[in-house]
Amino acid sequence: MPRDVCVVGAGVVGLASAVNILENIPDVRVTIIADKFSPNTTADGAAGVWLPYSLGNTPENLQRRWGETTFHHLETLLKTEESSTAGVTALPMFRISDDPIKEEYWSKTVYGYKQVPTGELVKLFPHAHTKYGEFYITLLCECRMYLPWLMRRFKEGGGKLINKRILDLQELTGRYDVIVNCTGLDARSLVADYSVQPIRGQLRRVTAPWIKHAVYDFTSECYAIPCANNTVLGGTTQHGNWNKKPNEVDSEKILKGARAIYPSLKHATLQHDWAGLRPGRPRVRLESEIRKVGGKEAKIVHNYGHGGAGVTLHWGCAQDTTALVAELLGEKVNFRKQPPSKL
Ligand SMILES: Cc1cc2nc3c(=O)[nH]c(=O)nc-3n(C[C@H](O)[C@H](O)[C@H](O)COP(=O)(O)OP(=O)(O)OC[C@H]3O[C@@H](n4cnc5c(N)ncnc54)[C@H](O)[C@@H]3O)c2cc1C
Ligand SMILES: *[C@@H]1O[C@H](CO)[C@@H](O)[C@H](O)[C@H]1NC(C)=O
Ligand SMILES: *[C@@H]1O[C@H](CO)[C@@H](O)[C@H](O)[C@H]1NC(C)=O
Ligand SMILES: *[C@@H]1O[C@H](CO)[C@@H](O)[C@H](O)[C@H]1NC(C)=O
Repeated sequence: MPRDVCVVGAGVVGLASAVNILENIPDVRVTIIADKFSPNTTADGAAGVWLPYSLGNTPENLQRRWGETTFHHLETLLKTEESSTAGVTALPMFRISDDPIKEEYWSKTVYGYKQVPTGELVKLFPHAHTKYGEFYITLLCECRMYLPWLMRRFKEGGGKLINKRILDLQELTGRYDVIVNCTGLDARSLVADYSVQPIRGQLRRVTAPWIKHAVYDFTSECYAIPCANNTVLGGTTQHGNWNKKPNEVDSEKILKGARAIYPSLKHATLQHDWAGLRPGRPRVRLESEIRKVGGKEAKIVHNYGHGGAGVTLHWGCAQDTTALVAELLGEKVNFRKQPPSKL
């Protein structure tokens, strides 16, 4: 008899979990329940750069495991004709600073990592902070395209959707054999995980098709990232700030910092400003739990709290989530290597 799994959340984390469960566990029915779908999730607004960021104390071995799995998944997509519909591209990136930049553990995951001498940086970015710098090519996963692409894959596989807000876990127990919790920042409110905190990020999308390299300036905390239809300028990293409205003060800061990197941006036209809340947590929560809810047993797998790196870790976390769901169902998983073609 098929078993029923429900995934709460349709952000990049929930959707990837749902797809992986559906495709890799035999004989399951998967339902996504969420009150927000693409284009209204956090990752739809984010740039979507593969870059581990704002992950609290999530152990390095786990960041590496989830991050590398995700990188390789995106790399596989990059090499197919699906890449443009899925919104996956290669992204050349400089990171610059007035202070030394520590080479991160992931420098061997991205392509062609190197430290760049000051002389070269000064030539390229004479108005920014260029004492130290690094260059590499990473991957960009634009979720405005990627989430609809994943959603088609989910529906094609027979996945079901329910659009509603869950107010109480009792709505789910008894109906589903396993519940997967991909509620992001809202994990804070349902039964209360107060360690989940917003980390607010504001950004601005402009039309500036001449910008081809991403630049992140550590000293000003500002960046410019070329995307398919626009260039993303950022940013802010404000812990504990719940305000989802963009404000003038942040816009000014973003514009000033971005123009110091690329003075030509003064000729760019504004598309829109946006602010989103990263689901911050001391560490990503990915584990199973068996809880008594209203006298019934609820089997839950938690997968939330990905901070500023939900896109960077989503596929690796989805695979580990799938393995935990399979364990709770007493099934074996066998991960399919290739994405299905023709979607
Ligand atoms: C400005 C900014 C820039 C960023 N840039 C990057 C980047 O370049 N690279 C990167 O890797 N990451 C980046 N991030 C971080 C990334 O966007 C997040 O880590 C990621 O989107 C989190 O995904 P999620 O699926 O966990 O959460 P969300 O997208 O917030 O999704 C949560 C889902 O759960 C549903 N939900 C919650 N509670 C309930 C409930 N009670 N009932 C029903 N449904 C519920 C919601 O409706 C939604 O579908 C950025 C974030 C911001 C704000
Ligand atoms: C996204 O949000 C807008 C504004 O609230 C709403 O009109 C639209 O239906 C939402 N889209 C989806 C797919 O849920
Ligand atoms: C998700 O986890 C949080 C924290 O434990 C809890 O408050 C919430 O009820 C869980 N949601 C679901 C759908 O399991
Ligand atoms: C870019 O614009 C095209 C045409 O309007 C649209 O189909 C595509 O989805 C857009 N891509 C992104 C990432 O917004």
